[in-house]
Amino acid sequence: MDLICIRRPDDFHLHLRRGSVMRAVLPFTEQAFARALIMPNTTPTEIRTAVDAAVYRGEMKEHCRRGFTPLMTIKLLDRTTPHEIIACKSAGVIAGKVYPQGVTTNSDNGPVDMHVLYPVFAEMERVGMVLCLHGEDPKAFCMDRESVFLAQLCEIARSFPKLKIVLEHVTTLQAVGVVKELPDTVAATITAHHLYLTLDDVIGAKLHPHNFCMPIAKRPEDRDALRRAVLSGNPKFFLGTDSAPHTRETKECAEGCAGVFTAPMVIPLLTSFFEEFEALEMFERFTSESGARFYGLPLNEEKIRLIRQPFHIPEVIEGIVPYLAGKTLNWRIE
Ligand code: NCD
Ligand code: ZN
Repeated sequence: MDLICIRRPDDFHLHLRRGSVMRAVLPFTEQAFARALIMPNTTPTEIRTAVDAAVYRGEMKEHCRRGFTPLMTIKLLDRTTPHEIIACKSAGVIAGKVYPQGVTTNSDNGPVDMHVLYPVFAEMERVGMVLCLHGEDPKAFCMDRESVFLAQLCEIARSFPKLKIVLEHVTTLQAVGVVKELPDTVAATITAHHLYLTLDDVIGAKLHPHNFCMPIAKRPEDRDALRRAVLSGNPKFFLGTDSAPHTRETKECAEGCAGVFTAPMVIPLLTSFFEEFEALEMFERFTSESGARFYGLPLNEEKIRLIRQPFHIPEVIEGIVPYLAGKTLNWRIE
């Protein structure tokens, strides 16, 4: 088989940034995806109100191809009000994202105690907005932050039984298990790079800053649990690439930024993944169906075609070193 045709994918977790970086990275996502859930942790100003989201959507719309849809999120802070949630819902914002304080890029003003946000979660449950959780507890050791956070996830799910919750970019065996056990209102995104990376690829021999992201890649058995979740076709697990561009200088330095830039090759890489594990029948479900169904969005009608041809990943793209820079994949988007 040298040609694969799938429904056009959706990316349910994407960092586009703003300004020149946005203009540089947007074409890669547009080439492969119909829609993307755009993360709100932008600088210098983040997206935390309905007005911010409308302005940011306008910036993207000005530069994106016709037919590509940015799906909007806001960042939930201690000062976010239930009233703002109503305004966001009317403005077409579909999700609110929690970044616990200090766990990742631009999260310094995030909440420490999730309970502060319970009135906001109640309003999201009422109006039908999805809660996206960066599921790491800032007080825990870095390798344990995700598993320690799971108790809070369970409490939120129990307290708001109709609230749809996405545990973002899961990286552990424990998180996969808990998400599977919780009711169908709870799902998880999985990135392509976490299907490959372990901590060895980050610091196992030499330091590889371009494999460094949050949550940090874990143990081989964690990666294998992510693989099994994806290959099983369980609709609770769907693609959120977490493609997170940072310039070369801000990654290759003391205090390098967390984030892996995967937008240019993520769909060819996933094609190889599903082929390697002999589960191509699950490919479209993971990339193009389960996420849309969870979010209550119509499935994309358009298709994309992958052809078996060498695809060389550049060393650097617009000042950003992509994931697998310099490597060659077996598939490309036609
Ligand atoms: C993301 C970024 O750079 O904005 N970084 C990352 O390591 N994943 C933020 C995030 O999703 O944690
Ligand atoms: Zn992210």
